[in-house]
Amino acid sequence: MRLFVAVLPPVEALQGLADAVAPVRGLPGADRLRWTPADAWHLTLAFLGEVPAERVPELEVALAEVAEGHPVHTLRLAGGGRFGDRVLWAGVEGQDWALRRLAEAVYEATAEVAGESDAFRFHPHLTLARAGSGRGRRRAEQRTAAVELDALVGALEGYRGPPWEAAELHLMLSAHEGGTVRYTSLCSCPLARWEA
Ligand code: 2AM
Repeated sequence: MRLFVAVLPPVEALQGLADAVAPVRGLPGADRLRWTPADAWHLTLAFLGEVPAERVPELEVALAEVAEGHPVHTLRLAGGGRFGDRVLWAGVEGQDWALRRLAEAVYEATAEVAGESDAFRFHPHLTLARAGSGRGRRRAEQRTAAVELDALVGALEGYRGPPWEAAELHLMLSAHEGGTVRYTSLCSCPLARWEA
């Protein structure tokens, strides 16, 4: 099973971002990107890769323990950026230090089970769109794509979404269904309500 751990922004936060992204999708080059559907938007804390199904119960226990040890915190979706010329993303502001600590704890608790586990690297982001395969594209076309992506990033720069409470983490299943990828929450673990 292809698994990852994520925080899911509430529908008001997703709607606010969708409203901000709508005009961005009309800018030059935007139509050559593969846009992620708003109902699949999430903040990945850790990508686990392929994990045998029989290890899911112990993962759920480990994630529940991590969640109990980390506080609910306030975030907002804001601004954006790009990873090279491949990914356009929306950013996160607010108590992002709490999100980082949570991500690090999830990484440590899942490293042994994770099918793919690089060193801990966490850049909070919500992937909005991906460029097509870079293979076969000429250098000049790649440069154009980067310039176009910069314009899309610029258009998101002033966006500050409504604040929301990150109150739980989810163990997510990523499954291919009829040519699209569908994400399903296998379990949610509430974060702690004590004061940080
Ligand atoms: P992304 O949003 O930056 O693309 C489900 O696929 C989630 O896991 C996505 O949010 C994706 O992050 C992340 N993900 C997918 N493949 C990954 C990989 N090989 N390494 C790290 N994260 C990955």
